[in-house]
Amino acid sequence: KKMIIAASVALSMMAGVAQAQERDLRIAFDVPYAPFEYKDDDGELTGFEVELAEAMCEEMNADCEFVIQAWDGMIPGLMARKFDLIMSSMSITPERAERVLFSEPYYNTPGGWFAREGFDTDVTDMDAMEGKTVGVQRGTTMDTYVTEEMGGIVKIKRYTTADDMVLDLEGQRLDVVFVDYPVGEQTILSKEGFKEVGEPVKLGQGVGVAMRKRDEDLAEEVNEALATLKDDGTYDAIMNKYFDY
Ligand code: ARG
Repeated sequence: KKMIIAASVALSMMAGVAQAQERDLRIAFDVPYAPFEYKDDDGELTGFEVELAEAMCEEMNADCEFVIQAWDGMIPGLMARKFDLIMSSMSITPERAERVLFSEPYYNTPGGWFAREGFDTDVTDMDAMEGKTVGVQRGTTMDTYVTEEMGGIVKIKRYTTADDMVLDLEGQRLDVVFVDYPVGEQTILSKEGFKEVGEPVKLGQGVGVAMRKRDEDLAEEVNEALATLKDDGTYDAIMNKYFDY
């Protein structure tokens, strides 16, 4: 069921006419971003949002293709019809809502600060933070926050992928990483020698599925499917697999 493009094309050829009335949808993920979307040890795409997408597609009777898309090309890719939905932990913000249509929020994630054990600077103390290096994924709500609140004080390093950022924290090329809290918790705190620093910051109005503005009918279907999955316990079951809180 976890389909990449080639597999899904092959499948729909085998299924032939039977799938003809099904709706074809392409959903974009930026990986790795555990626990939301990442590849497991066998290279299969998985994670909270991947499983939620699978359940949603089943609920909508849609034949879904999963597309890997780098974060910085997400909204342009949606506009260019490379895919139809973004399910990549995209926080709902007024700026994005001018360009895309969001579903109802299906998750909430604040930004969290993570550093190596030895780091003892208060991240909210701008005098103390002067000259420190902070890593963010480029074009995220964390990038916007750090740019607006700490620009000119800290050195901001912007990364295309979240894993390069974590590598630089490990390699001491960064003092602090600012990333969606569950991602920091599961990809940084899970390793020896790291800690959380400072209070998580609320960013955006939850996380939603992003679609093209004109796809209002699709958005309605998505909202209905999400509501059903919440009602029938599917959402909680998937959630409990990936989050232990
Ligand atoms: N929640 C943040 C935002 O909306 C970051 C999401 C990054 N997602 C990803 N799959 N890399 O900006």
